[in-house]
Amino acid sequence: QSSTPVTYTDAGTGITFNTWPVPAGSQTAGGFTFGVALPSNALTVDANEFIGYLQCSSKDATSTGWCGVSLGGPMTNSLLVTAWPAGGDVYTSFRYATGYSMPDLYTGNATLTQISSTINSTNFSVIFRCQNCLSWNQGGQAGAASTSAGYMVLGWVQAFPSPGNPTCPNQITLNQHDNGMGIFGAQFDSAAANPSYTAWAAKATKTVT
Ligand code: HEM
Repeated sequence: QSSTPVTYTDAGTGITFNTWPVPAGSQTAGGFTFGVALPSNALTVDANEFIGYLQCSSKDATSTGWCGVSLGGPMTNSLLVTAWPAGGDVYTSFRYATGYSMPDLYTGNATLTQISSTINSTNFSVIFRCQNCLSWNQGGQAGAASTSAGYMVLGWVQAFPSPGNPTCPNQITLNQHDNGMGIFGAQFDSAAANPSYTAWAAKATKTVT
């Protein structure tokens, strides 16, 4: 998909994101969108948190599936955020993979708190504050994304089946993603960082576990 950001303002929260949508088509059924809102000075000083927007697709109006982003680009050696709908909530799990198999639980101090979520028959979405998410360390293996660079390298995946154990994020089981994947350079424009970031981040009060 394009590296050029598309500005998206969420109607429910008023939060403005830089997003990089993958349209529905040959790359993925149903479409996929990830976006970020950054602290006001993040384009000059590296931030270690962001507000994320994930909108992912379910197959054939079934309210199922899972999706994820790699905050470093590749699946391996990056902080992974995985999300899926279950029982009216969107659950998430931080993961870390050293190979192309079921990722381990991430053992670092990243924290995800939700601002809002939606589930309908064809899509699920979640807006979340992600703290300590732009640098990571798993057993001494460290990595980071630099917001002051003006872009991030991101990876995305979507899958049709739901995770096993969907209401126990630490115990989910996944099959290999089967509805598209990609790595892309996600450029920021001036709308990525916002003076309202602190007020928006304060709306993150919901933990789904
Ligand atoms: C790519 C396996 C879970 C993110 C791949 C590839 C394999 C794989 C084999 C390379 C495919 C190719 O190049 O054609 C698996 C298996 C999983 C799993 C077996 C679970 C059982 C996840 C999760 C995430 C993720 C949970 C993120 C939340 C990615 C990304 C790529 C990828 C971003 C593309 C970039 C790259 O090749 O490194 N995966 N994966 N995967 N995976 Fe996974």
